[in-house]
Amino acid sequence: MSAPALPGAVGPAGATTTAVRPARVVEARDVADGVRRVVLEHAPGRPAEPGAHLQLVVHVDGPGGRRREVRSYSVVDASPDGTRSAISVLLTPTSRGGGRYVHSLSAGDDVECSAPLQGFPLRLGAGRYHLVAGGIGITALVAMARHLAARGADVVLDHVVRTRSRAAYADDLAALLGDRYRLHVDDEHGAFDVGALLDEVAAADGDGEGAVPGGAEAYVCGPIRLMDAVRRGWEARGLPASTLRFETFGSSGWYAPQPFTACIPEIGLRTTVGPDTTLLEALQRAGADLMYDCRKGECGLCRIDVASVRGVLDHRDVFLSRRQQEAGTSMCVCVSRVAALPAAQGGDGQPAELVLRLP
Ligand code: FES
Repeated sequence: MSAPALPGAVGPAGATTTAVRPARVVEARDVADGVRRVVLEHAPGRPAEPGAHLQLVVHVDGPGGRRREVRSYSVVDASPDGTRSAISVLLTPTSRGGGRYVHSLSAGDDVECSAPLQGFPLRLGAGRYHLVAGGIGITALVAMARHLAARGADVVLDHVVRTRSRAAYADDLAALLGDRYRLHVDDEHGAFDVGALLDEVAAADGDGEGAVPGGAEAYVCGPIRLMDAVRRGWEARGLPASTLRFETFGSSGWYAPQPFTACIPEIGLRTTVGPDTTLLEALQRAGADLMYDCRKGECGLCRIDVASVRGVLDHRDVFLSRRQQEAGTSMCVCVSRVAALPAAQGGDGQPAELVLRLP
């Protein structure tokens, strides 16, 4: 049986087509405050490798009624025969509908999902692995931790959460890694010290005391503030860019999501982007024919030139360099947004407005 193509999974240019297959929920339970683990049973296939994700068709409510959309979720674990894949999803107040859908699932429900897809591969051969997870970003790193531990690799996992109740898989990881699993709870320990972590990485990667043969690599998944702090610290210490790898979840930014107006004058488009809608979705609903692929701020295919902005660009991608983001002349519309400039930064209370320019 051939699988149907995901609706809207790719842009009109058709970079790729992701197929989905029928699956059944065989387990659904909470594994932390607001985090639901769902195990999907599906036709056999290649089991997910560490760092893999799958695409799940979700049913969300919108202005035009219920519609099918696609969300990407990291595979937390998978059965060796490739017939079961587990995901875990955080329900947030700003959920665009995917989290609500996953949290509504129960054992026995029929769903549709893709085969595992790889966008965050683990490179074997490093002397030390530093895994760094912020909040629900742990879901992208659990499988890596298990894989590395099973091979006797030198691995340290820093897991940063706001409250202990949000620390999904903490007990499993502590049992797996012992004191090499370091749970940092902001409410109890204060702000996580990214600088101290990167000093440790730099020592492991260097020639002096603490150095490990093969050097150190880091894999990071978490909110944009954590990833940006790691990236800046990495650059400041002169660590090689090739040994720092990110996975995004495309939902966290520098500012809380808020409504703003988006315009593309060349095609007479003007629309409002709600706080629970991405800019890409709003532009498409308003009739724009745009290219995109990952929808996670990684591939850059959805990048569009910015003609002007009233407010501040809230870049949430990891595709543009910091310099490109600071220049403010383009943005990845699948994840990035606009926010009204806060009063503390000279904002005048005017709602945010964005004018884009087609090539
Ligand atoms: S679609 Fe890949 S960065 Fe936007």
